[in-house]
Amino acid sequence: MSRIGWYGLGSMGLAMATNLQKHLATKSTLNSLLYSNRTMSRGESLKALGAKPETNFSKLVSQCGIIFTMTNKDKVSNDDVLRSLISSVTEDPTQSLKDKIFVDCSTVHPQTVGLTVAKLKEKQADFLAAPVFGGNPIAVDGKLVFAIAGPKRASDIVKPLIQDIMGRKVIDCGEDATKSSMLKIAGNIITINLMEAVGEAQVFAERTGLGSDVMEKLIGEAFGPVAGGLTTGAYAPPLDSRPGFGVSLAIKDAKHAFDIAKENNVKLPGLEVATKNMVSAREYAGQCLDSSSMYGVLRQKAGMEFWNEKSRKG
Ligand SMILES: NC(=O)c1ccc[n+]([C@@H]2O[C@H](COP(=O)([O-])OP(=O)(O)OC[C@H]3O[C@@H](n4cnc5c(N)ncnc54)[C@H](OP(=O)(O)O)[C@@H]3O)[C@@H](O)[C@H]2O)c1
Repeated sequence: MSRIGWYGLGSMGLAMATNLQKHLATKSTLNSLLYSNRTMSRGESLKALGAKPETNFSKLVSQCGIIFTMTNKDKVSNDDVLRSLISSVTEDPTQSLKDKIFVDCSTVHPQTVGLTVAKLKEKQADFLAAPVFGGNPIAVDGKLVFAIAGPKRASDIVKPLIQDIMGRKVIDCGEDATKSSMLKIAGNIITINLMEAVGEAQVFAERTGLGSDVMEKLIGEAFGPVAGGLTTGAYAPPLDSRPGFGVSLAIKDAKHAFDIAKENNVKLPGLEVATKNMVSAREYAGQCLDSSSMYGVLRQKAGMEFWNEKSRKG
């Protein structure tokens, strides 16, 4: 198999690339991962595992047969990073993309996927949309759920690099790459509503004297790891850290869902409430918040401080 490249070492990308590099290091016949990121220093731990840095995305692409991307623009995104990465190689006349496979694991709008497929097809390259479900701790454990869609030739090659390495399950959505992107957006309607529901239940537990500890136990046991952990303070982490699923990324994902829902005459009232609370949380406490930070706003509405005992305090 030809060399594998990775662009994007954020909260999710670094954990995923680490698992992939650990796998590649066990195979003497495979080259180590070639990685790139806007902030190259984020790759130091990957380098220590044997992966190779490459500051220039075009040069990375020219050396690899399979290129993973896992990015997002800072603040409110409109899929710009993926678009500009792909344009930088499709518009470069010196770059041959024939038979290369691009795999994007970010959450992007299906329209962006459609445009990317078309651009790469012109250059005889394949595009797989492979968004993921699960946050950073699940990515670290290599237990993400992937939705994958795109040409079968490409997904047959890429699936073995995912299953039991970066993910516990790969849901195949067929050959139309926009379908996995649509599934991801539909799935995030559930995730964001779940965050709102858990936040409401925790505030209810705190104010009624039931207590957040028993509620936390119930949530972990009955609703699984995605729903648990709200009261650990992860909703408002220290300012020098990266939130698990950044509030602005969640607002961007909700916006994708609203746009598509409107085109299809679908109402998303639960998502509207949750999104308003995320926007209020960001106005109050800034960017460094998790998608679950509507909890802070729900606390305020119940007469408590935005911050809890374990979150940061300002
Ligand atoms: N976090 C989650 O729980 C979660 C779960 C499932 C799916 N997702 C999706 O996965 C994707 C990545 O999420 P994440 O949490 O890993 O995001 P993140 O921590 O914010 O990382 C974003 C990545 O994009 C890069 N980037 C940002 N702006 C850029 C720019 N203008 N030019 C070039 N590179 C840029 C960052 O580079 P720097 O390192 O230089 O900043 C970093 O590599 C998103 O689409 C998100 O919706 C996230």
